[in-house]
Amino acid sequence: MKGIILAGGSGTRLQPLTLVSSKQLAPVYDKPMIYYPLSILMFAGIRDVLIITRPGELAAFRQLLGDGGALGLSLSYAAQDEPRGIADAFLVGADHIAGEECALVLGDNLFHGADLPLLLRRSVRRLDGCVLFGHQVADPERYGVAEIDQEGRLVSIEEKPEKPRSNLAVPGLYFFDGHVVDIAGGVRPSDRGELEITDVLRAYLAQGRARLVWLGRGVTWLDTGTHETLLEAGEFVRHVQRHQGMRIACLEEIALHMGFIGVEECYELGAAMGHSPYGQYVMDRARSYLPERALAKLLEEA
Ligand code: DAU
Repeated sequence: MKGIILAGGSGTRLQPLTLVSSKQLAPVYDKPMIYYPLSILMFAGIRDVLIITRPGELAAFRQLLGDGGALGLSLSYAAQDEPRGIADAFLVGADHIAGEECALVLGDNLFHGADLPLLLRRSVRRLDGCVLFGHQVADPERYGVAEIDQEGRLVSIEEKPEKPRSNLAVPGLYFFDGHVVDIAGGVRPSDRGELEITDVLRAYLAQGRARLVWLGRGVTWLDTGTHETLLEAGEFVRHVQRHQGMRIACLEEIALHMGFIGVEECYELGAAMGHSPYGQYVMDRARSYLPERALAKLLEEA
């Protein structure tokens, strides 16, 4: 499965922070925002990822992540010259998708939860049409909103409705079959002039091929679109990391865990940032990986 991170947009709500740099490179506590959505694709087992940004920001993203080889990934980059809407990602990324299944994650969405990696891999395995997620929120009118029937089947999806039919927001993470480029090609701009992701989801729903997976209480989803929510996300990451001693969205650790790189490669990546607590953590994780795996195996066999 291919992956796309949509990391463009005008970032006007975060100005002046976004006047000279992309919002998706802004720090969320100890790492750039894009680490978080990239970590989600990695957990889903996706290694071939296209990053879509504003033309002037391609170089900065490239400088940060390169071709992804160090993490066992293949990263490529494309520019979206105008923020034409989220569904435009499939048109900009058509060559990258090349008729394969594809995951799209928005560059400003952060997810965290112990069950998440399993849930993502299961969603990839059971994909038939498209998978979207539902997460209960107090302010659904700010998001895409899903309505489900008594049996939990998806009945409707609306973009930022004034009167939401439920409090199930649809986070910015979606899995699609190989038809998504054709479907996105048929979407027309909405009243606000954007190619809406909800229209793509609705087209799948009309074919009876859209499935909603509920992200239960165990999963935290944060959208970092405003100064308030950006700070909240940073505080959340700091709090969890401080209390658990484990980092969220540490790409080197995830690459090791997923088998994309080996222990030595992981250690070297940490050593290159060894003056920072982040680098030290990566080195620690590399050191304890084999003993911990052996321990887990012993526990499994007991
Ligand atoms: O965060 C989840 C929500 O994201 C969903 O519930 C909504 O259905 C979906 O429309 C979207 O709503 P937002 O109002 O948050 O979308 P926003 O315009 O802020 O764009 C989300 C991200 O995508 C942001 O990082 C900028 C990027 N983007 C957006 C557009 C419209 C692009 O890179 N290009 C674009 O053309």
